[in-house]
Amino acid sequence: MATAQETHEYPGELNDVPGWFWPLDQVLFSWFLERQERLDTRGDLLELGAYLGKSAILLGHRLRDGETLTVCDLFGAEPPDAANRAEAAKSYSSLTRQAFERNYLAFHHTLPKIVQAPSSAVVDEVVPGTCRFVHIDASHLYEHVEGDIGAAKELLVPDGIVVLDDFRSEHTPGVAVAAWEAVLNRGLRPVCLSSQKLYGTWGDPEPVREELIAALRGRDDIAVTVERAAGHRLVRTRAKGKRLRPPSLPSSRHPAPVPAPEAGGTQAAPVPDRTPQARPAARTARPSTPRDRTRRLALDLLPPVVTRAVRRYRAERRAKAGRTPGTAQSRP
Ligand SMILES: C[S@@+](CC[C@H](N)C(=O)[O-])C[C@H]1O[C@@H](n2cnc3c(N)ncnc32)[C@H](O)[C@@H]1O
Repeated sequence: MATAQETHEYPGELNDVPGWFWPLDQVLFSWFLERQERLDTRGDLLELGAYLGKSAILLGHRLRDGETLTVCDLFGAEPPDAANRAEAAKSYSSLTRQAFERNYLAFHHTLPKIVQAPSSAVVDEVVPGTCRFVHIDASHLYEHVEGDIGAAKELLVPDGIVVLDDFRSEHTPGVAVAAWEAVLNRGLRPVCLSSQKLYGTWGDPEPVREELIAALRGRDDIAVTVERAAGHRLVRTRAKGKRLRPPSLPSSRHPAPVPAPEAGGTQAAPVPDRTPQARPAARTARPSTPRDRTRRLALDLLPPVVTRAVRRYRAERRAKAGRTPGTAQSRP
């Protein structure tokens, strides 16, 4: 089946955006960022390697007032060496900055700060000691990842979190070498491991690790095991089957249309106009009352699967009550 990107539609939800950001990591990113929010750890967010925006969109969802999200990616620009050029040609040949921006703006009103350059440029763009969360997911070649880890160390606040993508994938041995070298020789302390990513800190890992273990052991959809290696406590996390409870994800400004009501069966379903110009009109079709706003907030706090079911139910009720088709598209 064609993805939203292949048909050039706007992504209706985060998981419509192509990328390599799996549900367990969506849960873990959200947990780390929510904890920082709870503890009032201030700082900016940084992603090296954004591709079409899947993980960047979630990072943007967790930004607080006064904070900046910076993303650094080649977005089709010339890679700095032959090996990186081969990597880009193999995996990201059709990537454009425009496609990233289009996806990002489907979920957020403003773009992040974009550095379209090799990741080595990021130290000239971000002030040292200002980031609370850095996601390293650009080139997967050792020389690049080693440099990106050095940049993260310089840019993070003392208890900041760094995430290394593909630290143990069969096709990315360079990341594995750089990751474990950082753990053994460069002071990086692992907080936890998922199938794809290593989460670490150059601060004290113990409080955050303990809190994470307790939080995950309270869930029946994630398995946690702890073991020791070379003096480090390694917390392995694994999704149990496919029934992972998703975190609160950003809502698309172009949600998928609700299914047409069955009643009567003669009227064609309204075709949503998904052009950016059409959205503000659809969203202001009905004046927002305090009750509407409370209901919308409550909906935003529910797990997405419940939110979608509630929206579908309301749309069906509205259709049965003979309300205008346009409002069925607008977000409650
Ligand atoms: C694996 S993708 C990123 C996936 C994305 N974080 C996600 O969750 O979907 C890697 C990205 O790194 C970019 N990239 C590759 N080499 C790079 C380099 N030397 N500097 C900056 N970005 C690079 C590629 O253009 C590509 O978009």
